[in-house]
Formats: sequence, structure tokens, C-alpha cells
Amino acid sequence: MLSLTASETKLQFVWDPIEAAFEAFRQAYPAFDSTRKLDELRATEYARLDRAGHVYLDYTGGGLYAESQMRDHMALLNEGVFGNPHSKNLTSLAMTRLVEQARDDVLQYFNASPAEYMVIFTPNSTGALKLIGESYPFGPGDTYLLTFDNHNSVNGIREFARAKGAAVNYIPIVLPDLRADTDYLTQALLTASSGSNNLFAYPAQSNFTGVQHPLDWIADVQAKGWDVLLDAASFAPTNRLDLSRWHPDFVDLSFYKMFGYPTGVGCLIVRKTVAQKLRRPWYSGGTITFSSVVAFDHYLTPGSAGFEDGTVNYLSLPAVEIGLKWIESIGIDLIHTRVMCLTGWLIDQLLSLRHRNGRPLIQLYGPPNLDRRGGTVQVNFFDPDGSMFDCYALEQLANEERISLRAGCHCNPGAREAALGFTRDDLEVCFSTKDQLTFEQFLLNIDGKTTGALRASIGLATNFADVYCYVQFARTFVDRRAASKS
Ligand SMILES: Cc1ncc(COP(=O)(O)O)c(C=O)c1O
Repeated sequence: MLSLTASETKLQFVWDPIEAAFEAFRQAYPAFDSTRKLDELRATEYARLDRAGHVYLDYTGGGLYAESQMRDHMALLNEGVFGNPHSKNLTSLAMTRLVEQARDDVLQYFNASPAEYMVIFTPNSTGALKLIGESYPFGPGDTYLLTFDNHNSVNGIREFARAKGAAVNYIPIVLPDLRADTDYLTQALLTASSGSNNLFAYPAQSNFTGVQHPLDWIADVQAKGWDVLLDAASFAPTNRLDLSRWHPDFVDLSFYKMFGYPTGVGCLIVRKTVAQKLRRPWYSGGTITFSSVVAFDHYLTPGSAGFEDGTVNYLSLPAVEIGLKWIESIGIDLIHTRVMCLTGWLIDQLLSLRHRNGRPLIQLYGPPNLDRRGGTVQVNFFDPDGSMFDCYALEQLANEERISLRAGCHCNPGAREAALGFTRDDLEVCFSTKDQLTFEQFLLNIDGKTTGALRASIGLATNFADVYCYVQFARTFVDRRAASKS
């Protein structure tokens, strides 16, 4: 049985009856039926989506929280008395217990051995990545190797590497699927000289194309003398990351991407052996056991605390435990199955849309099937003459239908440049005089190079009606001219 929810009543542009489309979908993706529990949860825990008539397709931007997560967290806060965990009084100790519990729960959720890994709480993935950047012992002769396909917060580590004299090397990604050039990677990995500190960073799942870069790389790359940073920010919400099977040296996460709430908390999961070689560039309240002004020295607290500057977001940490338990109660494999079924259907439908002259409406950036990919579907729309619709205008038009998509480069400039074919020459010229330009002049300089794409991303509360609604929206652009965007 299909619950038609808000999208049924809202759509004025429906051409295919949703029931028929749903039956065809079920036949094409029979595994979907095993995930109907999530339709029930959509009606209870995520009912606000349909009450407000929202079609939410921006899960790579941020996940959605269940009502019970909020209730459980508020009940804990309303009943408990919690002090700053840096003290040793009763209320502080009560909080410390919950903070440590959350730490243990993160390890347990990812099946990470406490003997091998530790969890450092950060404000978000970016905070975790910055910790690595500033602490990793880069120096002359070392290399920071990374894929073109990376979030800016991973790209940004190159500034630390460069400042400390290390080389930075990017592995290209190649059309049509925008996967990494493995020949280039193989060659690049040979450059690690023994005794140097070399870091290789890549996303387990691209936030731009949805490509899942191989987890098999981890052990291979480590065997060649590299430390591995696995950015799991867009992978973890809909995929199992088993750290007893895969052993990256660093993993970064933002919890709001996994279960919507709390924002402001992420973590770095780091192998203890590798953590030992990190060198913090400063110390602060919270990170030291003892500091002296007269002796001009300090003693950094061993373990996670030495990396958690100031007071952690302690009242939010029990919500991490609640969120992890919530995902466990549903099952990450069930979430994965559902997301893949809906993603497969969405891709099939978008790729099948054609103008009357036979030209495709959509260009997809990333794999056209479910092979080694996740639930992020990145496209541009083209008119019958092949002119591209402005993705930002499309985002606005989707807003009018209460469909939340996301336009832009999604903080992943390397994937955007590879997808849209921007060359080094195209872009270097924009930066060549940047120091002499005002911000407004710089914007003029890059005009036309900021083109991005339109992303739909699917998550645990997505139902068939959501993706159906997006496809019906896309259909309204068949045989439409890009010049008359609205
Ligand atoms: C793959 C990836 N890495 C890192 C980040 C950074 O996450 P945050 O903004 O929560 O720090 C994001 C955010 O979208 C992401 O998608």
C-alpha cells in the first residue's frame, strides 16, 4: 500500500498516476518491500514533512531527526542536573559519565576496537579535519595526496601541508563516472619514501557524484607507507562502516548528517598508534593536565582530551547516543537498501526524460546505475537545443513546489571542475590577479565559472512519493527553453 502523503495533493503537474509508477517501481526494485517499516516511521516520527508538504531531498546537506530523538533528549535534560564535565563535583561527574558513554557508543556503532581507536569530539567533520591538518607532522619531503573529488574541508588541509613544506598531489577523477584515475593513484603512491609522513585523503562517498571510492584502498595504501584519512561524512548516514574490517587511520563525521540532531557535534575517530605522531600547534583549557606561566610549559593530557579544545558541547553528546541507538533500532542495512532502491529508480527516470527531438533533458554526473555509488544524484538540465538551465534558477523553481534540492558545487570544486570540464587555464586566470582586486572585481572575474549542478540526495525518511515528485518536477522542463527559465 502506498501512502500518497503531501506530494499527492500538492503537485499540479502530475502526468503519470503515482499508483502505476509505484507498482512499476516495486517490480523493478523488489527489495524496497522489505523496507516498509520506514514508511511507518515516516508517518509517525517524521510526520512533520507531510504536515508541512515538504519534499526533502537534501540529506547529504543534513539528515532529519525523528520526533522521539528530540523527546528522549529533552527528557534527559529536563530530569538531570548536569555541570561542566571538567569539574569533579556530582553534577559534573554525571555529565562526564554521559560524555564517555557517547564516546564508547561511537566506537561500538562503528565496530571499532577501543584498543585500536579513540574518538575525539569536534564541532563537525570540518573540525575533525582541521585537527588533522594542524597536527599532522608534515614537513619537507612529505606528501599530502588526495582525490580531486573531495570536500573543501579536506582540500583545506593542503594549506597546512604547503605551509610546512610538504608536497601536495591530486589524483584526477575521470569521466564518465568520475571515479579516480587508478593508474595515476598507483604511480603517486610509489612516491612515499620510508621515514617520511605521507597522508592520503579521500571520501568514502562523494558528496557531489555519489561515487563510492573503494574501501579496499585503505590497506593497500597503508602497505605502501601512507596514513589514510577516510572522509565518511556523506557515507556514514546510509552505509555500514565497519572499523573491524576497514582500518583507516582517521575518520571524520558530522552527526547531524547521520540522524539530523544534534548539530554542532562531529568526531574524529583516530587510530591510537597514529594519534601518537600528531603534534598540536597550541594548547588550551581542557587539553592540558598542567600548564605553568612561570615555567613557560604545559603537559598535554593523553588521549582524546588533549584534542578537545575548551569545553565540549556536552549537553548535546547524550543526543549522539540517542541518535546512534535510533539508527541501530532501524538498521543501517535496511536504510541502505531503501536508499539504493529509491536512488536507482530516480536515476532511471531522470535519464529516460527526453525532449521531443530525442535529446536528453538531463546530464547526470556520476554512475548511471547502482554500481559502487550512494544516494546522491547530481544533474544539470538542458533544453532541446542543448542549452543548460541555470541550476540556481531550478533550485528556486523547486522551492515553489516545496521540493528541497541543492544547487551549486557543494563545497567540492574538484568534482565540479571535472564534471563540467573546467580546465586549469580556465580557472588559473581568475586567480592570477586576485590580490589586486576588490571582492566585487574578483566576482566579475569568475563570472561564468561558478556554474554548478543540481543535487538530490536521499536519506532514511525518503519515501517513493518524494522521488516521484522530483521526477514530475523534472518532466515539466521537457521541451522547455532554457531562456525562459520560469
Ligand atoms: C563529504 C563531506 N565531507 C565533509 C563535509 C563537512 O561537513 P561539516 O560541514 O559538517 O563540517 C561535508 C559536508 O557536506 C561532506 O559532504
